[in-house]
Amino acid sequence: MTSPASVNAQVLVATPAARPAVDLADTSSLRGPPSVLFVDQSGQLGGAELCLLPLASSWTARREVLLLADGPFRKRLESLGVQVELTCDARVSRISKDAVRVGWLMALPGIIRQARAIAHRARSFDVLFLNTQKALVLGALGKPLHRKRIVWHLHDILSAEHFGPVQRLIVKWLTRLAVDHVIANSRASAFSLVELAKCAPESVPVVHNGVDMDVFRSIDASDLGALRKRLGLPETAYLAGLFGRLSPWKGQHVALDALAKLPDVHLVLVGAALFGEEAYVISLRAQAARLGIEDRLHFAGFHDDAPAWMKAMDVILHTSTVPEPFGRVIIEGMAAGRPVIASAAGGVMEIVRHGKNGWLVEPDNAAALVDAVQTLRAEPDLAQRLASQALIDVKRHFSLEAYLTQMTNAIASVAR
Ligand code: UDP
Ligand code: GLC
Repeated sequence: MTSPASVNAQVLVATPAARPAVDLADTSSLRGPPSVLFVDQSGQLGGAELCLLPLASSWTARREVLLLADGPFRKRLESLGVQVELTCDARVSRISKDAVRVGWLMALPGIIRQARAIAHRARSFDVLFLNTQKALVLGALGKPLHRKRIVWHLHDILSAEHFGPVQRLIVKWLTRLAVDHVIANSRASAFSLVELAKCAPESVPVVHNGVDMDVFRSIDASDLGALRKRLGLPETAYLAGLFGRLSPWKGQHVALDALAKLPDVHLVLVGAALFGEEAYVISLRAQAARLGIEDRLHFAGFHDDAPAWMKAMDVILHTSTVPEPFGRVIIEGMAAGRPVIASAAGGVMEIVRHGKNGWLVEPDNAAALVDAVQTLRAEPDLAQRLASQALIDVKRHFSLEAYLTQMTNAIASVAR
């Protein structure tokens, strides 16, 4: 992405305030899709991985997924018939997203080894698709060895709130020097890259995540009591569900503070500490004991059938304390036909229209969350109106089909 000219502006033009202006659904001028090596740093099922899953599994040309860590993501890919390779290095895995210089230096031999391993595998593919930050760094560093076109799927807001200065500097220069094409998961993420790398806004098109509506349709929630019983949830209580990994910036502690002020509401945390946030889980349990809410707080753990769990809720909460890059859980909550209360920042603002298809609250503000839950609980008609509009909006703007078409065309355009 050395200059705007290196981007195929015919196919991929986006303004900071709009979706790509040119019709990405138009495949008429494209030849068959290129072969792709997808690279992801995680074996866990985070949002970036769940976003890659349908793309990799439905890719019609030759493709392979290279993971930098093992885990349930590999099994999910393989169960869908995707060929997966692993290249793991404990020291590289330990580098955190706000890593300091020392972390990088210690891991240098592992970095070189993994960059070479990616380059080696990339040689027999047309395109190298990098899905996460470490994949970006390692895949881009190896470019002199593989010389393949690089597509980077940006799932992050590259701000100082999310990343350390060293990481941001590295990303800035690799983006400028080695990446041929970026696709951002939201305008918020795209804007953060434009700010960081000082590149042209039109060189960072946006493709929002999509939801597979069939999965949600297939779950029968007509007997809510029966569904809750099957999942081991209280059958008659008012249930607020908070989905996603347990991590400080996802703000589960804010929801706990709110729960203390919402008598007889139950809060269900669906998700686990995926990336070593065990200390945070311990602090959540201590907070619950301190607030005296343990009997109304349910740690459900991670579940593959999140859509069923969503349908079992009365309301779905999103409580990130810093701007969320996109927020799959929000479009999924909408697809489940449940009212969603979300933190008003980042990519969320591209999904939720306050009072129309959801309810926005100030991030990191437990009192505002209490107020929002009380409002939707007291006004079931309003909650139902929001949920119905959300379902319409998610089908219209966040379909899996649209996501796959746009991604396919973007990748194909880079290969040409
Ligand atoms: N999720 C899941 N099972 C769980 C909790 C979460 O499958 O128990 C999924 C959820 O449905 C969503 C993803 O994890 O698709 C979280 O993605 P999101 O983009 O909201 O957040 P991220 O963790 O990627 O920042
Ligand atoms: C990342 C982001 C999340 C987004 C997901 C899919 O994990 O944190 O906000 O929804 O990617 O793009």
